Amino acid sequence: MSPVGVFDSGVGGLSVLAALRAELPHENFVYFADTAYAPYGERGDAYVIERSRAVVEHLLREHGIKALVVACNTATTAAIHLLRADHPDLPIVGLEPGLKPAVASSRTGHISVLATRGTLASAKYANLRASFAGSADVRPVPCDGLVKAIEGFDSAGIAALSERYMAEAGPFGDGPGEVDTVVLGCTHYPLVKEELGKHAPATLRFIDTGVPVAQQTRRLLASAGRLADGTGAAGNLLLQSSGDVAVLEAAAARWLGLSATATA
Ligand code: DGL
Repeated sequence: MSPVGVFDSGVGGLSVLAALRAELPHENFVYFADTAYAPYGERGDAYVIERSRAVVEHLLREHGIKALVVACNTATTAAIHLLRADHPDLPIVGLEPGLKPAVASSRTGHISVLATRGTLASAKYANLRASFAGSADVRPVPCDGLVKAIEGFDSAGIAALSERYMAEAGPFGDGPGEVDTVVLGCTHYPLVKEELGKHAPATLRFIDTGVPVAQQTRRLLASAGRLADGTGAAGNLLLQSSGDVAVLEAAAARWLGLSATATA
């Protein structure tokens, strides 16, 4: 049975993959981490477009994927419209920072968005903000270096950068003028939510879009008549990387308790 392809610049999309596997247990997945070319978020659109196209070509050619999840906010903002134009018959789901649910759940009306510089500078993000922010105060916090620290399992770097960016995202609380909701607008960040949460009260809400993306993937597969019916080999996961696949496997095991048949 053809797999669903999922890709990210590195290990971040594993946070989305976990939601996909929970929502779609009968599907096979192939996850591609473009580690040799990561991070995407501080490099500009042309680079991200070129890499996204190369990864999708690979997933189609080598794995005959039946649908694609771009498990990366940065690649979605830079390239998803081009990927859809390149492959009109391929169902494609992308990710964008969860501003809409954040605005709906915030009581103070003060929200911070942690994301890559590329995502926050994009026209797509500007449109998202114009459509959903309303009268809310939405503060962008570009988290330079955090993806690199996560990719490198750099615990000290993750701790220092989490403290720095959460200080920029606050002050937190439920009182007037305080931020009560933080959007995790990069798929790497849910992996370090616990570390980020050390610098905020327990009442702070973190928003990420893994679950709604998984539900949208189910809808798209169903409407394309490509949903697995539960017969045949199912639930398989293949991990691939343009870099060291052992790093991806270690990340999958460490953060998500996932194991898989990995190939380089
Ligand atoms: N995980 C990615 C995102 O959701 C991008 C990280 C990067 O390569 O900078 O934006």
